[in-house]
Amino acid sequence: MIKIPEQFKIKEQIIHNTYLINGEISIWDGDFVDVYSTLLTENEDDNLFKLGITPKMDKAHALKALNSADKAFNNGTGYWPTMKVYERINCMERFVNKMVEKRDEVVKLLMWEIGKNLKDSEKEFDRTVIYIKDTIEEYKNIDRDGAIFKNNSGVRALIRRGPLGVVLCLGPYNYPLNETFALLIPAIIMGNTAVFKPAKHGVLLIAPLLQAFKESFPPGVVNIVFGRGREIATPIMETGKINVLALIGHSSSANSLQQLHPQQNRLRLVLGLEAKNPAIILEDADLDLTIEECISGSLSFNGQRCTAIKIIYVHENIKEKFLEKFSEKVDSLKLGMPWENTLLTPLPEPNKPDYINNLIEDAKSKGAKVINKRGGETQKNYVFPAILYPVNSSMDVFNEEQFGPVIPVVSFSDINDPINYMADSNYGQQVSVFGNDENSLGPLIDSLVNLVCRVNLNSSCQRGPDVYPFTGRKDSAVATLSVHDALRSFSIRTFVASKDNLGNKEIIRKLIDNKKSNFIRTDYYL
Ligand code: G3H
Repeated sequence: MIKIPEQFKIKEQIIHNTYLINGEISIWDGDFVDVYSTLLTENEDDNLFKLGITPKMDKAHALKALNSADKAFNNGTGYWPTMKVYERINCMERFVNKMVEKRDEVVKLLMWEIGKNLKDSEKEFDRTVIYIKDTIEEYKNIDRDGAIFKNNSGVRALIRRGPLGVVLCLGPYNYPLNETFALLIPAIIMGNTAVFKPAKHGVLLIAPLLQAFKESFPPGVVNIVFGRGREIATPIMETGKINVLALIGHSSSANSLQQLHPQQNRLRLVLGLEAKNPAIILEDADLDLTIEECISGSLSFNGQRCTAIKIIYVHENIKEKFLEKFSEKVDSLKLGMPWENTLLTPLPEPNKPDYINNLIEDAKSKGAKVINKRGGETQKNYVFPAILYPVNSSMDVFNEEQFGPVIPVVSFSDINDPINYMADSNYGQQVSVFGNDENSLGPLIDSLVNLVCRVNLNSSCQRGPDVYPFTGRKDSAVATLSVHDALRSFSIRTFVASKDNLGNKEIIRKLIDNKKSNFIRTDYYL
């Protein structure tokens, strides 16, 4: 029998039947989708535990949400995109203060909906709040930088960053709050308007925030709809009214959505996609440190992070020692409920254990072994992490982004093996390198920085801190996200220029002194 602490119990099913369009929270009276949790499958025989329901909205409502965002932007002439910067900042501050009141509710749902442990669920919420506050501060810096006239070759110019238009925002299930808000928040603060549809898992936790959005932003700026991607996103993209597709998820979804846009040059992309980040362990690596980092790198949130270490290249001369110690450590990990704060927790996707087992079986049939004793032990909603060795290019797990608890290991004696693997890969997000000799590290780092966008030295791969650039090459990303870069990714430089003569100087002076424009001004918000 699973013991659930009183404060984390779900006492009755959550009937989520609202959506936000054009500043109104309306009641949905159409079809609903059941939301299940995989946490209690042991209690419920083969049935998943039903957490509640959420609207299964249709094309008509998707288009209503889009039209509301489109009207609020109104080709850049709307109230929101032309508003004073400090007024938009005030809206965002109001929102973040209201959001904080919902912390406990959101954290509890993060645990139930996606199985993230308590500590990491709290971290996801708190990190998002800090991200919003940092974004506000960074926006002030950007606004301040745009408050200075330039004068070059007889042309005076005031150059600022302006919004791009209507954003369709789609987030992933593994960070349903943080990653989605890391798109939505910079998008709207820059003056864009948005339609946001939460991910398939991690959807009920957005419902408590609808009121905060409604009370903080003018009608139409943020529209939140629920349902299947195909039914919501497809008709929206087909209209051609989306200016930015902001998506964290799979490249196949990003590709098919882009192709639906009738005028693709109008469409900007802000995408965070798959990755297959390798760890490269050189022969002089500190093994204890390497193992600690490889465990957190490959198994935090059960490996369901785009930044997870998803393949390990270990030097031939230390492979035995590494595999022995690594296996021992992995086998000592505990599997538990999210509120028990174990590293390993149930997987939220009901079909994931089968997928992971298929990867293991495929690798075994082609010559790999499961190295750790507990590797592959399966419960209804979990597969214990399996370390697979020796892995080669014929196996699915060599190329596929597993997004789950299986760790393929390859040994090498020629450093070109991992380098060629990365060069041939469709992905190019990050790499971890473990070693201590500057003679081998130096040239290696010089190559790796051109294959991925972050080289982690003696440390696991990760996105944070959020002030650092988060991006990737090839199929791993389009555009860059960081507190600063996201504001740039969701905006474009736009400016007012005039010949440097007395008449124009006079007009500019009057525009500034009489505060006639929200764009032409030299003051800024402290
Ligand atoms: O799923 C991808 C996330 O951006 C990973 O972020 O490295 O902070 O867990 P993280």
